[in-house]
Amino acid sequence: MSEIKYRPLTPTFGMEITGVDFSKELASDDIALLKQLWIDASGMLLFRDQNITPADHVRLTSYFGKVQDDIAIQAPVLAHYLLDGYPEIYRVSNKKIDGKPLGREDAGTYWHSDGSWMQQAPRGSILHAIELPSVGGDTIFNDMGAAYDALSEPMRTMLDGLTAMHTVLKAALESSYAKEYAGKLDQAAQKSATKPVILRHPVSGRPALYVNPGFTSRILELSAAESDAVLKMLFEHSTRPEFLYRHQWRLHDVAMWDNFTNMHFAVANYKAHGWRLLNRTTVLLD
Ligand code: SIN
Repeated sequence: MSEIKYRPLTPTFGMEITGVDFSKELASDDIALLKQLWIDASGMLLFRDQNITPADHVRLTSYFGKVQDDIAIQAPVLAHYLLDGYPEIYRVSNKKIDGKPLGREDAGTYWHSDGSWMQQAPRGSILHAIELPSVGGDTIFNDMGAAYDALSEPMRTMLDGLTAMHTVLKAALESSYAKEYAGKLDQAAQKSATKPVILRHPVSGRPALYVNPGFTSRILELSAAESDAVLKMLFEHSTRPEFLYRHQWRLHDVAMWDNFTNMHFAVANYKAHGWRLLNRTTVLLD
């Protein structure tokens, strides 16, 4: 009998799951339950006390879909942040050993949805907390389904059928990544895709807003001025406090989200308080 239990993290999304030990292989009915909970939780799942190896991390990722193993090809700037021997694991960290960064510092310090600029955006991302500062370094998640539901009917009708341009160029120009992309703006501009503004989730069919400040540069059917105004409104609306969950990391937390229904924001306020190191895998749609 499954020991899996869960409790909500917010009124609209997110669940903390207990009764799972990712250091062991899970039974197929437990995997099926977790996949269903991933949908029911509108994308955000949290597992505490998972003292796992990188191989365990890759295995648990495979329960939810295809594990991305071509990170270095899709995003060459990340190549030197991959864990040795694990092309599937990308590291986020402010830690350096002999001056060499262990991971990408200031990764995702702005609202975004991972890989929305890719033709086939990844469904999910899974972080494992390995080293944490004494305070700070939280990650904030939002619920794009609830944000969509809260829009007025005329606004939902107006947005439905519109498409938006998503591009790494926006992050390269406006975010903490500017230094990494200096001299590579042509490369960043080529990494772009057109996506619906209202996305029906590929598994559940539930509609959600799918524009993010990090990568969404323009709603294509509107004039530039209209697009700027509508995107500004949608970015402010979707990050209202009632759509947020702020995660304060504990050692060996595993947190995962669904990029089709959640944006996230890493809060870079911790650097005077120690090292932060998290391993991240990426789940593609099956
Ligand atoms: C990211 O995946 O965008 C980084 C998240 C984090 O470091 O909290």
